[in-house]
Amino acid sequence: MSAQVLELSPIIASGEEELHRTYSVCRWPGVSDPDAWLERDGASVRAVVTGGHLGITNEMMQRLPSLGIVAIAGVGFDRVDLEMARARGVRVTNTPNVLTEDVADFAVGLMIATLRRIQAGDDYIRNGRWPGGEMELARKVSGRRYGIIGLGRIGQAIARRLQGFGGSIAYTDVKPQDVPFTFYPTLVELAGASDILIVAAAGGPTTRNLVGRDVLAALGPNGYLINVARGSIVDQLALVEALQQGQLAGAGLDVFADEPNVPDVLLKLSNVTVTPHVASATVEAREQMARLMLDNLAAFFAGKPLPTPVV
Ligand code: 8YV
Repeated sequence: MSAQVLELSPIIASGEEELHRTYSVCRWPGVSDPDAWLERDGASVRAVVTGGHLGITNEMMQRLPSLGIVAIAGVGFDRVDLEMARARGVRVTNTPNVLTEDVADFAVGLMIATLRRIQAGDDYIRNGRWPGGEMELARKVSGRRYGIIGLGRIGQAIARRLQGFGGSIAYTDVKPQDVPFTFYPTLVELAGASDILIVAAAGGPTTRNLVGRDVLAALGPNGYLINVARGSIVDQLALVEALQQGQLAGAGLDVFADEPNVPDVLLKLSNVTVTPHVASATVEAREQMARLMLDNLAAFFAGKPLPTPVV
């Protein structure tokens, strides 16, 4: 079946309903022979709908000769080759702002869950261990030294929340900002001055493996790493090694190097909290993300200015 819109990853049901009512849509995950489909119907596709975590491969972009827009339901555009899009005259849109508060809520929640071992407490009761005695002590969250990597919209929303925690807040970014937080020009310096390091930077080639051995060593054996941004920003092998060898106290991870695959070694560590890339996964945020993505799509097909263009 030919399609105007190729949907690479699903959106919330209410958005799906509107998408399918408005356009002829092909759901990519349901295509049994992708190669044959692209060969036969690739030229009919004017728009691709995708998620920030997924984007679109260069190979697929090349096989859609009539493609005019990649509409991302997500804020990250690190999985789309913007140069190639520009060169081919393909517009790219994302959904900034509408997920900021939810992702920041989640970052703080993941931090608390990791240091206070909330999941371990739940397991403790479910596994019938409470009658046998109290569980081991956790670590304090408030009054600590918080370090934020990337003080964009989400980083700032995290910082605002942390202001209520009574500790100190520092950050690193490409340049200092007019904010009441301490700026460190390098990640190693920031890590050295932090008890809890929170990753909130954008993904992509400039941030790849930014959190490596040196940064983890600077964070130290009492330090915690929280990542709600992109798995690509952290050298996952170095992280596993640091956690295994007690060079880091723990980690809270919502994102991974090769999603949805999470290495077994990571899952065996009791000082790690893992979640399946859900920082923006609330009904409220996902409805607004779908709305904004659909508005971008509608503007594109109507030849009107795009609400939130990246390219
Ligand atoms: C989502 C994200 O998982 O916004 C992003 O860049 O990675 C997440 O919010 C995803 O985009 C949902 O489609």
